[in-house]
Parts: sequence; C-alpha cells; structure tokens
Amino acid sequence: MYNKTVIERFKNPKNAGGLRGANGIGKVGNAACGDIMKMYLLVNDEGIIEDARFKTFGCCAAIASTDVACDLVKGKTIDEALKVTNKQVFDILGDLPAHKIHCSVLAEESIRAAVEDYYKKKEKESKKLAKD
Ligand code: FES
Repeated sequence: MYNKTVIERFKNPKNAGGLRGANGIGKVGNAACGDIMKMYLLVNDEGIIEDARFKTFGCCAAIASTDVACDLVKGKTIDEALKVTNKQVFDILGDLPAHKIHCSVLAEESIRAAVEDYYKKKEKESKKLAKD
C-alpha cells in the first residue's frame, strides 16, 4: 500500500502537464510494466532549470516520483540535475512498495533523457550558428 505522501502527490501533482518552450524533453519507458514518462525542462541561458513538468502514462508511484523529480531539478544547473537520484526521490516520498521502486528509477531516467535532449539541441544550435 502507498503512504500518505505518495497518495497526495498522485492526487495533486504540482508539476503535471506539458511545458511551453521546453528545451529539454526526455521520454523513457519500462518494457515490463508498459509505463511511459515524459519530462520537460525549461533551461535558461545560464544553464539553470527554470521549470520542469511531466506527463506520464503510468502508475500512482510513477506520477508521484516524477512530480518529486521535477521539484528536485527546478533551480538547479543542468549538471546538478544529473546528480538527482531515485534514492532522493524515494527518500522524499518516504516509502514505496518494493515492486514499485522501479517507478522512481524511471523518474531519474527521465531527467537524464531530458538533459541529453537539451545537450543535443544545444549542439545542433551551435553547429547551425557556426554555418551561418
Ligand atoms: Fe511501472 Fe510504475 S508500475 S512505472
């Protein structure tokens, strides 16, 4: 069973939804359960994450975990965001049933995927600028 924190995050996620202008978008999935998570990051010119949002086709723990992950990366640099772990997500949630720990791992992976996308876009931009 889920604890109160997980249930509250699931019922009232603060960061659910897409994000206009997101320049880092990561999508990950778990083949075993079929859940999918999409993380949106808005990174400013100084490399600080101004906002983070998510969409998920997933379970209660997936929603709660990604909501916490969004809170954890906001205000951080892109490199600091890469240091956010599922253990931190897990600690904030307080507890997850053993068979739901992979949901918090998916949250961590979604951050990495979004950061990777951000770097890819930046590289493309730089190449384009170099051509012009
Ligand atoms: Fe797979 Fe939650 S059951 S992400």
